Amino acid sequence: MKEGIKMKIVKVKDYDELCQWTAKQILQKVRQDKKLHLGLATGSTPEGVYQYLAEDHRKNKTSYRQVFTYNLDEYVGLSADHPNSYHYYMNQHLFQKIDIPESHTHIPNGLAKDLSAECEQYEALIDQINGVDLQILGIGTNGHIGFNEPGTLFGSHTQVVELAPSTRKDNQRFFDSLDDVPTHAITMGIATILKSKQIFLLATGEHKANIIKRLITENVSQDLPASALKLHRNVTIVADHAALSQFDKDEVFGF
Ligand code: F6R
Repeated sequence: MKEGIKMKIVKVKDYDELCQWTAKQILQKVRQDKKLHLGLATGSTPEGVYQYLAEDHRKNKTSYRQVFTYNLDEYVGLSADHPNSYHYYMNQHLFQKIDIPESHTHIPNGLAKDLSAECEQYEALIDQINGVDLQILGIGTNGHIGFNEPGTLFGSHTQVVELAPSTRKDNQRFFDSLDDVPTHAITMGIATILKSKQIFLLATGEHKANIIKRLITENVSQDLPASALKLHRNVTIVADHAALSQFDKDEVFGF
C-alpha cells in the first residue's frame, strides 16, 4: 500500500456491476437505519445506481419514508424544473420512483436571491446532522469532487464556484451548446464532503482511467481535489476494469 493512502478499492468488472454493488450497499443501509442521511451525486455515473434502487423499490417496496438526502451540487441559474438542473435529474432518476417525502430531499437552490445565505443554510443543514452517513461521489476528469475544481481549498464549505472550462466542456453533452452550460454552481465544499461518515467514490469507463491512476498514485494536493479523500478514514473507490485500465492487474489488487 502506498504510504498515506487509506482508501479501499473495490474492483468491479463493468458499469453494471458497479451499479449493482453500490445499490446493494445503499439498500443494506436503508434497511438497517431507517433514518439514514444519504449524500447523493448526479452526472452519468450514478444513473444506473438509481435505476437499481428504483427497481428494488418497485419489486421489494424498500421504503425511504424516513430517509433524508443531500445533493452535492446544483447549477446557478437553473430552476428545479429545468431539464438540465440537478433537481430535475434527481426527480427523474430517483425521487419520483421511490417513496421519499419531498421535504426530506435537499438540493442547493441555484435560483436563490441571496446565494451566499443559501450556501450558509446548506452547510448548517449538514452540520446539524454531523455530516451525512454515506456520501456517493463521482469524479471529474480533472479530479473534481462535487464542483470543487483543482485549486479549491480543502477547508472549503458550501459555496458558489466558477466551473472550470474542462468541466463545462465535459458537461456540454447534456446541453444544446457550450454556451448553455452554466458558468457557476453551488457545491458542498471539500470540508463539507469530508464530514461524511462514509464515502463511496464511483468511477467507470476509460475516460476516468487517467484521473483514477493519478488519484491512487499521487500525493495529497489541492491540484487534485479528490486526493483530499485520502485524509478521510472511510473512503471506498468503486471502479470498473476500464477505470483501472492504467494499472497492471497485480498493481491494482495490491492496494
Ligand atoms: C455531480 C458532481 C460531479 C460529477 C462528476 C462526474 O453531482 O458532483 O462531481 O460526479 O463531474 O460526472 P460524470 O458521472 O457525469 O462523469
